[in-house]
Order: sequence, then structure tokens, then C-alpha cells
Amino acid sequence: MELLPLLDAQSVEPLYSQLYRHIRGEIEAGRLRAGSRLPSVRKLAAHLGISRTPVEDAYQQLLAEGYAASRPRSGITVQIYEPEFSRGFYRTSSAEPGRKESPRLVLPAKKADPSIPVHAGEKTDWIDFSYGDIDLSHFPFPLWKKLLGSCFSPDHRDLFRYGDPLGESGFREALSDYAYRARAVICPPERIVVGAGTHHSTEQICRLLQRTPYSAAHSPIAVEQSMSDGIAAIMRQHGYRLVPLRLEPDGIRIEDLYDSGARIVYTTPSHQFPHGMVMSIGKRRRLLNWAADVGGLIVEDDYDGEFRYAGLPIPSLQGLDAAANCVVYMGTFSRALAPAFRLSYTALPPALAIAAKAALHPFDRLASPLHQKTLELFMAGGHMQRHIRKMRSVYQRKMAALLAAVRRCLEPRFRVSGGGAGLHVLLETDDGRDEAQLIRLAEAAGVRVYPTSVYRIDPHRGESASILLGFGGLDERRIEEGVRRLADVWKR
Ligand SMILES: Cc1ncc(COP(=O)(O)O)c(C=O)c1O
Repeated sequence: MELLPLLDAQSVEPLYSQLYRHIRGEIEAGRLRAGSRLPSVRKLAAHLGISRTPVEDAYQQLLAEGYAASRPRSGITVQIYEPEFSRGFYRTSSAEPGRKESPRLVLPAKKADPSIPVHAGEKTDWIDFSYGDIDLSHFPFPLWKKLLGSCFSPDHRDLFRYGDPLGESGFREALSDYAYRARAVICPPERIVVGAGTHHSTEQICRLLQRTPYSAAHSPIAVEQSMSDGIAAIMRQHGYRLVPLRLEPDGIRIEDLYDSGARIVYTTPSHQFPHGMVMSIGKRRRLLNWAADVGGLIVEDDYDGEFRYAGLPIPSLQGLDAAANCVVYMGTFSRALAPAFRLSYTALPPALAIAAKAALHPFDRLASPLHQKTLELFMAGGHMQRHIRKMRSVYQRKMAALLAAVRRCLEPRFRVSGGGAGLHVLLETDDGRDEAQLIRLAEAAGVRVYPTSVYRIDPHRGESASILLGFGGLDERRIEEGVRRLADVWKR
């Protein structure tokens, strides 16, 4: 293998860094193939006419970032280069994440480069800041089992059938009450449709809108410049063009919305996903005014609105819509209870509620009547409110631990955003390193953190590197340890 880097001994950039960048570039460009062997330290040093130290340091960096792996007797080989990172959201197990362990470091013992603390290979105790994990240690398992068990009786034959495409009537009544108490959503049961998660609810809404002046033929959907990629994919599958709106510290830029020409807007006002800002009350009113001005429809995705830590929970936008005719509200139990129940609901304006009856299909009966009934009983006993109160204080402590650790170990180089609500934060830096480098370095320390570029609607818009950390499934000790490890590998 020929490596011909142009090394400049006079440059302020150290030789090892020039060499590391060259080899990394060759791997990323595909000129150094996965599985091919890098020359030995001794050979490459001799070939380049430099000492072994910069070559060893460059190799250490490539190993630490996962570009290369080192195994006894096979030397150092190029690893498969994966330009796309997986999102924490889609991880399916809370045990060791499904991906290969980071490469084992077997370079001859030498002084470690203090800028690259290497933990790879030793780690079996991954700390996974996966977005989407929740804390199950406070889930009321015995009570849930008892309530579910009470459904297993011949008196409840109806719960063992397919059920109603709109959702079970008792559950919709309980939802109407719960949504009002927990989120100030004002909606009678007849206008509530049950779904199997927000993604299913989004799909139902897109189908519903097909028969209205809000179909894809009539309007694009204006969206926040970064948003859930799954929800964006569903909207696009239904033929909608998505028009990104810039984000300001208090939510979407309303001027962009007027300019977009769209008559539908999708938004996460209680906790923007993924950036975490809360839409100000002034902006909420301007958004409702926009809908009144253009005859627009607002799709409000309230995926974790129950968990706000500073001050009182922000009531839903739907509740501010006095005429109740321009907000479609989506709620989910994926955060407040657990994603596995696959339960969500949509509160529809009157005209769309009428259309829903015709537009829904038997295949919409995806949410199990058994889970619907169990949650109905759970709510009726007042347990849901208690559970949310409990979890709010649990997650508040975790968030506080995370923010304190970031303050101690990562600021001012990294800024944190979205710390007032929800189960994730973003860490941003403009120190020159990109998302991919930061994620690889974190992996070398046995820490999984996640990219945010996958959520950008316009991928070409440059932004500072921004990393997503979900903390719902980690306890405070692990959160602090994770941030310490990140500080260790991310320092320069
Ligand atoms: C913006 C947003 N909405 C909703 C959800 C919840 O989706 P679901 O209800 O399908 O689990 C998520 C993911 O957790 C999300 O990121």
C-alpha cells in the first residue's frame, strides 16, 4: 500500500496530525479499502523519513476513532467506513448496543497522547445516551399487571376482538379527560382518534387530509428546520413537499411561515425536537393568527410535554385555539409511560373529526384494545397523574445531574441546549470538529452519543456540530460518568 502524504515539517500542525488527516481522508474517499493493512509503524516511518512517534500517534488517533483496528498478528487494518450514524432512537435493546465493539488497541506500549485518551477495547460497560430510552425502575409493574389481568375474563370478550378504528370508546373518554388535565387540550371523546404511536397518528392525519383542501396537491407542509426524520418520511410518502422554517430561540420564525406559501404547519411547540426550545406564548398567538389569516392548519406534536422542569408545564397550543378549528393535536405515551405500549392519540377539529370516520380503515386498528383498556383503568384510578408527577421529579434530577456535569466538564467549549424540558439535550460546539469526529471519539471512550444532522430538512445548511444526548434510561451516576468520559476524549 502506498501512502504519500505531503508532510510539512514547518507547519504549525504537528506531523502526526497531518499524517492522521491524510490517512483518514484516504479511508473516507474509499481509496484505502476496508480490510486492507496499513504499513507497520517502522516501515511507514522509514518510508516517510520521519521518526516513529508521529506515525504511532497518527495510528492511535485512527484506532481511537474507529477508522482502523489492530489485532495481534494481523497488524493494523482499515475498518469499514460508515458515513451515516445510526440514531439512538432506533436501537432495539438496552443491553450492549447492536454494533461491533470498538477496535482493540494493541500498539506497542508507548506514551499516550494526552489529547486522545483511549478507552476502546477495555469497555464492556457502554454508557448509551440513547434518545428514546425511558426509566423503567419506577414503572408500577404490579399494578399494571393487576389491571391488565382484570381484562382476562369472559366478561371482556370485546377486548379480544379487533376493536374500533377510532379507538375504544371508554379509552377515548378517559383520554379526553386526561388530555385536558395534563395538557389543557380541550376535545370531546368524539373528536379523539387513537393511534399506535405518533408515527401511526401522523400517517392517519396525512390520509385524512387527502380529501380536504389541505391535501398534498393543495399545499406543502411547513416544518421546523430540524424535525423527527420518521415523521418527515411519512409526510413525504404521502406526497407532501416539506418547507423548512428557521428556528429562533422562541420557536419557528413566523415570517418564514407566511413566506412559505404553505397552509399546513407541523410543529413541536412545547419542546422543539431536537433543539429543545419552547415556543413563547407571543409566538403561539402569532401562529394561531397565521392560521386565521390564511385558513391554515397547525399540526401540534406534543411528544414529551409532560416533562417540563422549570416552572409550570406549558399548556398545549390546541387549548389556546378558542374556536377549536385549526389545531390538530397529537399526544403519545411513549415518553410518559413506555414506547412499547404503542399508544398515541389525535385531537381533531370538528370538520376533520367528521372526515375521520370515512377516512379510517379497518387496518387502523393497530392499538391493542387490551392496552387501551389497561391504560383507561390506570387513568381512572388517578395513577397516570401520579406516575407523571413521580417521573417528572425523577427526570428532573437526571437533567440536573447532566447539566451540572456538562457545566463542570465541558463548558465553555460545548454549549448545552434544551435543558428545560424532556429527556434529551443537545451539545453544540464550533471548535472545528464535526459531528462524526465527536461521535467516534465518544465511542472510543465507550460512550454512545447521537447525530442531529439526520434531522435537518435541508441537509446542506451548515451548522455547528451538534450532538444529541438522551438520558431517560441512565441513572445519575452513569450520566456523570458518561459526561466525564466525553470530556476526557473531547478535550483538545
Ligand atoms: C418529534 C417526535 N414526536 C413523537 C415521537 C414519539 O413517537 P411514537 O409515539 O411513535 O413513539 C418522537 C420520538 O420519540 C419524536 O421525536
